[in-house]
Amino acid sequence: MTPDLYCVMGNPVEHSKSPWIHARFAQLTGQQLHYGKRLVPVDGFVRGVREFRAEGGKGCNITVPFKFESPALATRMTPRAQLAQASNTLRFDGDEVIADNTDGVGLVNDIRQNAGVDLRGLDLLLAGAGGAAAGVLGPLIEAAPRRIVVANRTRAKADALIARHAQVAQSHGVELAAVDLDGLQGAFDVVVNATASSMSGAGVPVPAGVLKPGALACDMMYGPAAQGFTDWAREHGAVARDGLGMLVEQAAESFLFWRGVRPPSAQVLAELRATLP
Ligand code: ATR
Repeated sequence: MTPDLYCVMGNPVEHSKSPWIHARFAQLTGQQLHYGKRLVPVDGFVRGVREFRAEGGKGCNITVPFKFESPALATRMTPRAQLAQASNTLRFDGDEVIADNTDGVGLVNDIRQNAGVDLRGLDLLLAGAGGAAAGVLGPLIEAAPRRIVVANRTRAKADALIARHAQVAQSHGVELAAVDLDGLQGAFDVVVNATASSMSGAGVPVPAGVLKPGALACDMMYGPAAQGFTDWAREHGAVARDGLGMLVEQAAESFLFWRGVRPPSAQVLAELRATLP
């Protein structure tokens, strides 16, 4: 039997760990699929998807810089992709192109299952209000913490992000607030860094006072990009977590969305971590 085709599309895409993760998921679940990498020109996302479908592709992951482009070709967006206004996963069902976003549920599952922290009733700080933050806020609300504060350098973006999530927050009984980074006060049980500040070499964007003793501090990146934040968090008595678990858990949700089978993500995360320096 010819394996079903999947890929990750992005630019750049060379260093993506998704092919390794999905190959391992397929092995462990006995699914017949091939998952590759596709470097797509920055102005060529729609054409890239069309070509992949024509070659028999069944679905793809989407990474930088294309996560906001799926509305241009999706025939349907899942509610969580609509809320995020971004998608990291497409599934091709006949004439349908369904866009989903598994980033947020990936983060929540990593926190709950791999870090062992139940978010219910906790105080959570989300630093950042760009694409990465937008992708995770809905599922963080659905995990029913007591309060989420979205802190961003540009306050207006945090205001817009929480306005879009006001209804879902209300329906889950979650207090949602926006502040600018400079006006940040109080201490939190969980701090999620969704800013790109480490990419620009600017360092940790929040003061150490935001960490309650023993808080969980998560960066959405992994490897050298997360190091500054995780080192800082440990120095201040927090439990530090990089984004590798989120990466594997979002992949597991995509795999489930495509194949209807949940792969053993904790095992694959442990294996992946063991391959890294
Ligand atoms: P991504 O898709 O990675 O979220 P993005 O949409 O460009 O990228 O968002 C980047 C986020 O990192 C934003 O919240 C940005 O703050 P602004 O909205 O004020 O631009 C934040 N960010 C980037 N550099 C930062 C820095 N040096 N300090 C604090 N926040 C920073």
